[in-house]
Amino acid sequence: MNISQEQYNKLPAEYKKYFEPMTNKHCCVKPVHLMSWLVRLVSKDGDTVLDPFCGSGTTGIACKMLGRKFIGIEISPEYFEIAKKRIENTTQDMFVGLTPKEE
Ligand SMILES: C[S@@+](CC[C@H](N)C(=O)[O-])C[C@H]1O[C@@H](n2cnc3c(N)ncnc32)[C@H](O)[C@@H]1O
Repeated sequence: MNISQEQYNKLPAEYKKYFEPMTNKHCCVKPVHLMSWLVRLVSKDGDTVLDPFCGSGTTGIACKMLGRKFIGIEISPEYFEIAKKRIENTTQDMFVGLTPKEE
């Protein structure tokens, strides 16, 4: 979940993994919640999802949270680096409290 850098700095350490400071410069970042819903709609646990226009990597974040493998393609090196960092910083337990993992 995206919050301001100021809000992020005030969070107790144990909550920081659930949030992301808004340092993402991508012009059209999609909400993780929306991409999680779409990923669950079209794939099952363990499937591989391809996003050929992955931008700042929101689909990849949703995939990591949901136990999907992910292949992302992005033409902009700057956005690719943002995506890589966001996906690396994502853990499956970040999913708790956002949307329940499917049965
Ligand atoms: C709508 S944005 C994706 C946003 C993404 N869902 C997110 O949450 O950040 C589309 C992305 O496709 C990238 N793109 C455009 N043409 C491309 C191409 N030929 N190959 C790979 N990526 C491309 C753009 O740089 C842009 O970041």
